Amino acid sequence: MKQINIGILGCGIVGTGVAKLLMEKQAMLESRIGIPLNLKYVADLDTLTDRGITFKQGVFISDANKAINDPDINIIVELIGGKTFAKEFILRALQNGKHVVTANKALIASFGNDIVRTAVENGVDFAFEASVGGCMPVIKSIRESLVANRIDSITGILNGTCNYILTKISQEGCPFDIALKEAQAKGYAEADPFLDVEGHDSAHKLAILAALAYGMEINLENIHVEGISRITPMDIEFAREFGYTIKLLAISKNHTDKVEARVHPAMIPITHPLAHVNGSMNAVTIDADATGQTMLYGAGAGMMPTASAVVSDIADIARNIMAGSNTRVPILGSPKSNIRKIPILPVTEISTCYYIRLEAADHPGVLSKITGILGKRGISIQSVHQKGRRFNGPVPVVMITHNAMEKEVQAALNEISSLDAIPEKPVVIRIEESISS
Ligand code: HSE
Repeated sequence: MKQINIGILGCGIVGTGVAKLLMEKQAMLESRIGIPLNLKYVADLDTLTDRGITFKQGVFISDANKAINDPDINIIVELIGGKTFAKEFILRALQNGKHVVTANKALIASFGNDIVRTAVENGVDFAFEASVGGCMPVIKSIRESLVANRIDSITGILNGTCNYILTKISQEGCPFDIALKEAQAKGYAEADPFLDVEGHDSAHKLAILAALAYGMEINLENIHVEGISRITPMDIEFAREFGYTIKLLAISKNHTDKVEARVHPAMIPITHPLAHVNGSMNAVTIDADATGQTMLYGAGAGMMPTASAVVSDIADIARNIMAGSNTRVPILGSPKSNIRKIPILPVTEISTCYYIRLEAADHPGVLSKITGILGKRGISIQSVHQKGRRFNGPVPVVMITHNAMEKEVQAALNEISSLDAIPEKPVVIRIEESISS
């Protein structure tokens, strides 16, 4: 074999970055891998927009099928995104005996089990390092470096857009919409930023990490998801007063026969390493039995960091092809026959500490009614603060609870919301005191 032929499908932000790396670092990659990586095709419906790259004649094409059906192509790199054409092209490429690399977390989270089955049936590799955490080698770490460990938990800041927004609000008082527009302009956000802001992008990534960590089928459906759109500057400020910062966390815990998997804004102590992960940066802590805690940190979004992870997968596959060792590393970390269906624990069954902010009428006896409802459900209060005093309107009352069952907290808040003295729905943010640091 003289070279590895590559076809990229989709020349958007990441596709352009991958093409640039393959062309500009051709000599360095060849020297490290031991064989040239030849970019044979870049397919995109839009071949007119200038990407700042001069492709050789015949490389930049509009028909993805030309790459998928070319017998000389070894690796197809899917960077179209979405779940329609991308899925069809990936499945057809695998069936044609091509190895496939993608960054498409939404597709893997939704259809990953079918795609993995197709890859296994066709004896080819399917690689997706860039789907989680941008340039952070989190997939390789879990699947290969931590192979000797039972993984107990994973806690991550996995969405650069949300982390950018929360950082801009808390450090600069920037309004939410402006921070989101900036994240879009910098190329961090999804084509539909709802996926970022409402936590779904983090859930896609968590579904992938949980499958790899616990040897389970990918299960997006049962992950509890809340986004950051209801987080107010007031809550960020109160969090700071209590010694916390608010981050959108993706959390999973191994309960052996069940897995906890949830995405939501959470308060974490300002002393925790994840509290210092700002802007579009991502980080993930992995707690495992032999290693203790490992933490990875890096750019979670953006053209070149994500392209770097895509090219790392291309290099792995090229090395496998050279060594005749394709499919050496099982796609989900264990042979398919050992992958189990492990149920995800309903969020009502978790327990943690809670920040509760109520707008309460400033009358005698109101607080005792509220604490009575919490007490009846076994929810113990660590601290209560009334923020200010108004004679003709409600005042914010902020409570921090000790560890409590989620289902009891939800039931108590429903009861509290029905009181005449509570005109607005309470704000609740989980506090993750127990994520180890
Ligand atoms: N929209 C994603 C983010 C891109 O903001 O993290 C990287 O997956």
